[in-house]
Amino acid sequence: MIYTVTLNPALDKTLLATGLEPETINRARVLRLDCGGKGINVSRALRNLGVPSVATGWIGGATGEQLAQRLRQEGIQTNLIPIVGETRTNLTIHDQHRGVLVKLNEAGPTVSNEEVGGFLKHVQQHVQQGDIWVLSGNLPPGAPDDLYATLIRLIQGAGGNAWLDASGVPLRLGCAAAPKLVKPNLSEAESVVGRSLATGDLGEALRTFLDMSIACVAISLGKDGAVIADGRAAYWARPPTVQARSNIGAGDSLLAGLLWSATQCMPLAEMIRWAVAAGTAAVLEEGTGVCTRARTEALYAQVAVAPL
Ligand SMILES: Nc1ncnc2c1ncn2[C@@H]1O[C@H](COP(=O)(O)OP(=O)(O)OP(=O)(O)O)[C@@H](O)[C@H]1O
Ligand SMILES: [Mg+2]
Repeated sequence: MIYTVTLNPALDKTLLATGLEPETINRARVLRLDCGGKGINVSRALRNLGVPSVATGWIGGATGEQLAQRLRQEGIQTNLIPIVGETRTNLTIHDQHRGVLVKLNEAGPTVSNEEVGGFLKHVQQHVQQGDIWVLSGNLPPGAPDDLYATLIRLIQGAGGNAWLDASGVPLRLGCAAAPKLVKPNLSEAESVVGRSLATGDLGEALRTFLDMSIACVAISLGKDGAVIADGRAAYWARPPTVQARSNIGAGDSLLAGLLWSATQCMPLAEMIRWAVAAGTAAVLEEGTGVCTRARTEALYAQVAVAPL
């Protein structure tokens, strides 16, 4: 079974306003409501690729209920754990009059030590041999920086596989716990390696992660695709040049492509080829869209893979 973990999900609300003025009542129309969060996006991309997964994480209050209900309507299986605080709402306001976009992201609810302990217990009760648990996105206030590291040890101690896609201190501490796979982008990889990376340094950067006992590492490079290595081989997969509409969900779709190809037991070169096809399929979608199966299959043939 594949589980995705989203500890700080959000309801993404997009409003259309006709001119924002201070000290007056501004009128707006709700354009879209989306369930946001990296793990949730991975589950959505997996659903599009035809792979079942369970989305887990924390939800709270009426917003959390709304989020869970919407996910079920989308056909995504969930096992979300309630907390006292309210799930955050992230606002995007399109001011048509001024032609500007205002984004307001909440930090998210503060979780208590008891809630952290409750989530660890939840994972302990569900994890089974051979599972993949995808840990992605940032942590909510109150969660310890080493929460991903603790989860990785717990999951892998029970015979599961932890895959990590995070940033900052939780990423660095998580890497030290040796997840089975880690997927940083270039700047996240630089923060772990401790220096800026030029094209010629990528092989060495991959090696740094492998030396931390991480079995497989993929570094995504935006329009330049991604590099991947396990102990035996390393490849660079490059997508065709495309007209990018939105890069939201690109990294999550790349991860879904890796998961899908891993469940098919594909060799490493094929895994990164499908993953880059899925990531690039996501940038062709407007807004928060993730990859579709049709676009991923169409792009697959155009991704060039070479040994690194
Ligand atoms: N401009 C682009 N053109 C083509 N493909 C792209 C472009 N940007 C991203 N991609 C695809 O998406 C994949 C992941 O992109 P990126 O490296 O930007 O991930 P990320 O920074 O982790 O994204 P996220 O914000 O979702 O976490 C790339 O490997 C590539 O396949
Ligand atoms: Mg990312």
